[in-house]
Amino acid sequence: MVETGAAFEGRLVVVTGAGSGIGLATARAFAAHGAAVVCADIDAGAAARAAGAIAEDLGGTGHAAQVDVASSAQMEEFSRNIVAEYGVPDIVVNNAGIAVAGPFLDHTVDDWRRTIDVNLWGVIHGCRLFGAAMVERGEGGHIVNIASLAAFAPSRLLPAYSTTKAAVKMLSDCLRAELAGHGIGVSAICPGFVSTPIARHATYVGGDIREAAERGLARRGYPAERVAAHILRAVHRNQAVVPVNLEGKIGYALSRISPAAMRGLARWSALGRNRGIGR
Ligand SMILES: NC(=O)c1ccc[n+]([C@@H]2O[C@H](COP(=O)([O-])OP(=O)(O)OC[C@H]3O[C@@H](n4cnc5c(N)ncnc54)[C@H](O)[C@@H]3O)[C@@H](O)[C@H]2O)c1
Repeated sequence: MVETGAAFEGRLVVVTGAGSGIGLATARAFAAHGAAVVCADIDAGAAARAAGAIAEDLGGTGHAAQVDVASSAQMEEFSRNIVAEYGVPDIVVNNAGIAVAGPFLDHTVDDWRRTIDVNLWGVIHGCRLFGAAMVERGEGGHIVNIASLAAFAPSRLLPAYSTTKAAVKMLSDCLRAELAGHGIGVSAICPGFVSTPIARHATYVGGDIREAAERGLARRGYPAERVAAHILRAVHRNQAVVPVNLEGKIGYALSRISPAAMRGLARWSALGRNRGIGR
């Protein structure tokens, strides 16, 4: 983990989706290590609570911002305002994400659009706008994109979600190569199952498995704070791809050793099978 309590002193960090789960834990972890943090979320109240708690609980600096990462106009205004008010961020964590769960044939065009708009376009907007500001400033920086185990582990229950996460990982690899010469690092974080409210916030198609999904994630018992620690370390060490937790690491290794095994596992889904979804 990052060794000192002030490892990010004097840095400005932007975290999207900072109102809940991994984003919230990451914003708090950076603040606990001395950074000033912009907590951005589509939910203005959640962003304000996250920023307020950084000041109250940690005695740190938290700023709140409302933005829909899927909207290019909102992201342009958001990035302009951040740079004007607080300066060019040193670190940007493109974390905001949503999930649609269920078989491909039950996904509507709108399910696909919203998933791609938030999970992929949101990351593209964050990389484009803040990456350009970092390059122009000329003092380096770091961009963290939250992908997932789903980036390399196909699943019959998460076709849209997994497609966007694979794209986020590839985008991160491409951008890392391009920005290295500017002293800007790019990391893709690929967690397995993490016990956050994502299953509660998700959309279910072809059958309602919300309760089972929420229970499963809660039972996994892997806290968002541990993902946050990996994110801080990835920035500290400029790591390219960071699989997080046991299934994240096994999935990453297996996807390289035996892609056929991963395709076999994609057909298996305890959640879906037990409820007759996506036979
Ligand atoms: N929880 C897991 O098991 C897991 C595993 C791997 C990757 N991830 C990824 O981690 C990231 C965070 O997920 P989480 O588990 O903390 O979920 P979460 O639902 O707890 O938090 C997501 C946050 O993003 C915000 N958000 C959603 N859409 C937004 C938008 N359009 N603009 C701005 N903010 C928006 C939500 O309001 C919420 O505060 C996501 O990208 C997710 O895909 C999660």
